[in-house]
Amino acid sequence: MSLQSELQQHVAAALRASGIDESLAVVTPSTDTRFGDFQTNAAMVAAKALKRNPREVAALILEHLQVVDLCESPTVAGAGFINFKVLDTTLSDAVNAVRNNGHLGVESVKKRKTIIIDFSSPNVAKPMHVGHIRSTILGDSLARIARHLGHQVVTDNHIGDWGTQFGKVIYGWKHLLNRESLEQAPIAELVRLYREVNALEENDPALKETVRLELVKLQQGDAENLEIWKQAVALSWKEFERLYGLLDITFDERLGESFYNDALGPLVDRLLAEKIAQLSEGAVCIFFPEVPAMEEKPCLIRKSDGGFLYATTDLATLEYREQRWKPDAVWYVTGAPQQLHFEQVFAAGRKMGISTDFRHIAFGSILGEDRKMMKTRSGENVELGGLLNEAIERALAVVGEKNPELPKAEQEEIARLIGLGAVKYADLMQHRLTDYVFSWEKMLSFQGNTAPYLQNAYVRIRSIFRKATSEGMGEGTSTPQAPITITDPAERSLALQILKFGEVLHSVLEDQRPNLLCLYLYELADAFHRFYEACPILKSEDSVRSSRLALAGVTADVLKTGLSLLGIGVPERM
Ligand code: ARG
Repeated sequence: MSLQSELQQHVAAALRASGIDESLAVVTPSTDTRFGDFQTNAAMVAAKALKRNPREVAALILEHLQVVDLCESPTVAGAGFINFKVLDTTLSDAVNAVRNNGHLGVESVKKRKTIIIDFSSPNVAKPMHVGHIRSTILGDSLARIARHLGHQVVTDNHIGDWGTQFGKVIYGWKHLLNRESLEQAPIAELVRLYREVNALEENDPALKETVRLELVKLQQGDAENLEIWKQAVALSWKEFERLYGLLDITFDERLGESFYNDALGPLVDRLLAEKIAQLSEGAVCIFFPEVPAMEEKPCLIRKSDGGFLYATTDLATLEYREQRWKPDAVWYVTGAPQQLHFEQVFAAGRKMGISTDFRHIAFGSILGEDRKMMKTRSGENVELGGLLNEAIERALAVVGEKNPELPKAEQEEIARLIGLGAVKYADLMQHRLTDYVFSWEKMLSFQGNTAPYLQNAYVRIRSIFRKATSEGMGEGTSTPQAPITITDPAERSLALQILKFGEVLHSVLEDQRPNLLCLYLYELADAFHRFYEACPILKSEDSVRSSRLALAGVTADVLKTGLSLLGIGVPERM
């Protein structure tokens, strides 16, 4: 049990003994560390309910509070906060336990859920936009964290591999294809075909009709068109996979829109028969008179020409997932503009009798330095592959400058970790709903709240270990196992920060905000640097040295694990 939970249990017992509702026993790390390490506002909340003076209630609770073996005598501050300053010995025991328990103090969830995470989901033959980049990074991190906490996670890449764009792609493929470009850069070539046909169509109604017929032929199963479609999807997927590989991201499932194609017709018929959907001017809609905000916003599931829509596929998907996995929750990591779409789909799902906890994990945009939607210089969507290559190249320049003596291959490996880490971290450190300005200088800086800063903190600890070992003082490069004894204030702060790791991951999942983990790791690296300045490690005497080495070791483990949950790797030197 964490120190925080242990204190909480003591507070609960004291509340019970004072005749106060024990569910008010909430202990948190102190907001003002001058008063203590942990605090509870239980007295203030209870006083309000009892209409009593909060400081009096606090005094009553203190009479029953038995924490002598953990803390100095608790004190009351301000309007009735009870503060705890834990003993050095308590803190030492707690960090030793965190180091020894194998999970760094992170407890698994009590109720294991099956969570489906629908993320990345780019569209074939359409440019991947920055929204897909955010979805990919955010979804992957949430999946890692949920898994780490013991949930059963199914990641599903719902790629857009069946849509109206294929009319244009197939027409373009038949008449305008450049085979060589297709082999070298398939997505770019497919996007070119799409754009070119789109432009030609504009002033040519006859062409528009021809293109539409190509789509109809595909939908009716025409062999030639199906073959072109298959190749286009396979080529795109190959390139997507290369990027996922580079990013170290995998999916359990890749059930794109086409997977649900055959289910759409029967689904709409059934919804009509069950009176969940209605005919409206030749189209089929689901109405939501019971949801005030959506009274005027029906969900269209079949157009009057018989065509199905994005929402129809999502309803079929919802049903399929329900049958196959019986999930407790489904998270859709998709940009904020799709909010209405998901509200409709979720409301329709409830009408279909599905009570799963659906969440739209929305996020804001990435902006260019001009604070407008990020675009390339020629005004096009930023292409993920190019962005990642640039990140790695820029990181390589920095690494080469800092470590000219390292072999080229190692420099490249380090640059890969730094460049990709920087892009991921710059995204994850923001509250997901805020728009943020993309800045190479900021994200690749070794100072401030950046991935390189955190990776560097880890690297610094590893280099201390190497030095200790080469001077015959270390335990090799693994985490030192010597007992940790906390005495100095800088050691205290670092130890307290380490102990927060067990709580922070759970709060990340509460409302799907990896930025809380980023902030935590940044504060951890900061606490480490303060400790490193204040407390000599290798120059100290035996037991102090081995304790400090071990404390640095737990810090490195938490940094590495925390970063890995953001999908970020660490080098051994940089
Ligand atoms: N392909 C869609 C897009 O690019 C995102 C799909 C999100 N997932 C879903 N089940 N609708 O906008």
